[in-house]
Amino acid sequence: MIKQKEYAKRRQQLMEFAGAGSVIIVRAASEKIRNRDAAYPYRQDSDFLYLSGFSEPEAIMVLVPEDKGGQSILFCRERDKLREMWDGERAGTEGAVAEYGFDEAFPITEMKQRLPDLLHGCERVYYDLGKAPDFDQLLIGWLNDFRAKSRKKFSAPDEIIALDHSLHEMRLFKSRTEITAMRKSARVAEAAHRRAMQVCKPGMNEAEIHAELLHTFISNQCEASYMPIVGGGANACVLHYISNCDPLNDGELLLIDAGAEYDGYASDITRTFPINGKFSGPQKDLYEIVLAAQLKAIGEVREGNAWEHVHETAVRVATEGMIELGIIRTSLEEALEEEHFKDYYVHNTGHWLGLDVHDVGEYEVDGHSRVLERGMVLTVEPGIYIPPKAMSVDETWRGMGIRIEDNVVVTRDDAEVLSTGICKTIDEIEALMAS
Ligand code: GLY
Ligand code: MN
Ligand code: MN
Repeated sequence: MIKQKEYAKRRQQLMEFAGAGSVIIVRAASEKIRNRDAAYPYRQDSDFLYLSGFSEPEAIMVLVPEDKGGQSILFCRERDKLREMWDGERAGTEGAVAEYGFDEAFPITEMKQRLPDLLHGCERVYYDLGKAPDFDQLLIGWLNDFRAKSRKKFSAPDEIIALDHSLHEMRLFKSRTEITAMRKSARVAEAAHRRAMQVCKPGMNEAEIHAELLHTFISNQCEASYMPIVGGGANACVLHYISNCDPLNDGELLLIDAGAEYDGYASDITRTFPINGKFSGPQKDLYEIVLAAQLKAIGEVREGNAWEHVHETAVRVATEGMIELGIIRTSLEEALEEEHFKDYYVHNTGHWLGLDVHDVGEYEVDGHSRVLERGMVLTVEPGIYIPPKAMSVDETWRGMGIRIEDNVVVTRDDAEVLSTGICKTIDEIEALMAS
């Protein structure tokens, strides 16, 4: 578990960045109604979680940097015997100070009355406009009021600065404890993928495999970090396939893209394997290409290499392979230059990973692909998808979709692969499925 001290350090770091004269405001995620009075499971806003570990709704964090240090203030729900009988325990204002390390906490019902006082006299407000229109209006209204009065006696903040750039730069670089959480999240996802490979048989339904994944996540006190993709046969070619309700046919492949969330941190792992436990010749051929692309790309994940270079490495290996199999019928140079590979290699080779599955952080700096630095965590996930209607491709390959995805940490040398515990080679997969 990430400790109170680390959250306090993150708030401190953000306050140092913003500097005295600023006020930083971060809002908790709102609860979302699914239907009538049933809510979707609540998930805290990742920025809010990153700065506090506080996972209740109806909360606003206000950070007031000072020359040395600063104040962390939380507006949150008060303890309430009756509501807690329905919805479970709340931290309350006392818990916010004692358990979450805020310097002060006030009931959220007092926010409108107290927050303007905290803004008085500050020069700039760091806040992400556009996520909560009601609160945006409130804030802009207060600032306009200050401005109207400032000609007489108040000084008024005259800018609202987006918080996300600085905060997301911090989030991009993972601390040791974050990487420990991500390792645990990968461990649980590995167990889920292994279980899926072991139980899978022709005649089962994608839904049953989906249930097996959730069984492992939930019994390890995790949840799915996103809706799992369980795509048998040609469903694997639908990149965001989540209906997971078709029968699993003998002779076809199954693509599973599923990750766990542990302590807020996501894993995001994909494996593709034969439903009957034995790869056919063509399935082997295509699989070996994706695997070779992935291994070579992971080999390029290291401090100092450009992010784009990792992608280009995977694309080159995959394109060479597709040319060899006759899926692409041009020279390598032309296929790369004219981007013919994009008909079948349709997504990027990866993304940042962290509290969000597609985590925050810029991919380009000054118009150039970002250079990898220690502590960044990303996925490496090449995929080749031959749609069933790709009539220009030989029938052998149509309806085959293969992706292999792992989670890797950038280090000075070889990347640390967080998800090493699920088999990936053809021999390993066939052996596990036969056991
Ligand atoms: N699971 C979504 C992705 O791989 O990006
Ligand atoms: Mn994925
Ligand atoms: Mn991914």
